[in-house]
Amino acid sequence: MAQIIDGKRISQEIKDELREKVASLKAEGKEAALAVIQVGCDPASSVYVNNKKKACAYIGIESLSYELPEETTEAELLALIDKLNNDNAVNGILVQLPVPAHINEDKIIQAISPEKDVDGFHPENVGKLVIGEEGFVSCTPAGIIQLLKRSDIEISGKNCVVIGRSNIVGKPMALLMLRENATVTIAHSKTQNLKELCKNADILIVAIGKPQYITAEYVKEGAVVIDVGIHRDAANKLCGDVKYDEVFPVASAITPVPGGVGPMTIAMLMNNCVASMSR
Ligand code: GUN
Repeated sequence: MAQIIDGKRISQEIKDELREKVASLKAEGKEAALAVIQVGCDPASSVYVNNKKKACAYIGIESLSYELPEETTEAELLALIDKLNNDNAVNGILVQLPVPAHINEDKIIQAISPEKDVDGFHPENVGKLVIGEEGFVSCTPAGIIQLLKRSDIEISGKNCVVIGRSNIVGKPMALLMLRENATVTIAHSKTQNLKELCKNADILIVAIGKPQYITAEYVKEGAVVIDVGIHRDAANKLCGDVKYDEVFPVASAITPVPGGVGPMTIAMLMNNCVASMSR
C-alpha cells in the first residue's frame, strides 16, 4: 500500500510557517508586496491568479493586482515591469503565463529584475540554480522537493527519472534532484525505451502533459511517483499524467491529483515572496 503524499496538508503547513515569519518580519518594520500581472482573461489563468492573491492575503503579504486587457502591447507591459522594478515598495513581480501570442514571453521574463523574480524564471536565477548559488527557484519543482523531504523520502543516491524538459518544471526539477545527490535522467518526447527507463527509477517525476499516460508497467515495485499533470478525464473529473488507481498498489508513495503537487506551487511562490521580503 502506497503512502499518499498529501500536498494539501504540506502546503498548509508551509503557509502557516510563512505566516508566522511574515508577522515577525513586519514587527521588524519590513513590508512585502507582490505585483501580480495578468494580460487577457484566460479563465484558467484567472483561477491561478486569484489563488495566488488569496495565499498572499492569508500569509500577510499585500498583492497588487494588474489586470490588463488582451490587446495590451509588449511595450506597455515592459513599461509596467520597468515601473515595478524601480518601485521599492514592490519586492516580487509575477506575470502570469501564458501571455497573448503578440507578446514575446522570453522578453517579458528577462525584463523582470532577478531580485524580484519570485517565479524563478529569469536566466540569472536559472543560472544560479545550475551552479548551486542561492537565487529564486521555479515554484513547482521546489515544491516537489518539499513534498519529498517533508514525507521523509530519501533522495540522496536514488535513481530519479524526470519525464519532461520544460524550463518551468523538467529542467529545474532535474537540477534540484541533482543538488540533493540523486542520479538523474531526463526523459522527453524523443526518448527511446521510456518504459524500461522508468522501470529503473526509485523516484519517478512525471510532467509529460498526457492524461493518465503512465501505467503500472512503467513503475518499479516500491518506487516513489510524483505526478505534475492536471487534466480532466472523459467524465470531467480531475486526473494527472499517472493512472493513479493502477500505479497506487505498485508504488511505495504517490501524489494524488488533485491535492498533490498542485497546492505546493503557490506555497513555494509565497516562500519566494517571503525570501524576497527578508533580503
Ligand atoms: N503559468 C503556469 N504556471 C505558472 C507559474 O508558475 N508562474 C507563472 N507566472 N505563470 C504560470
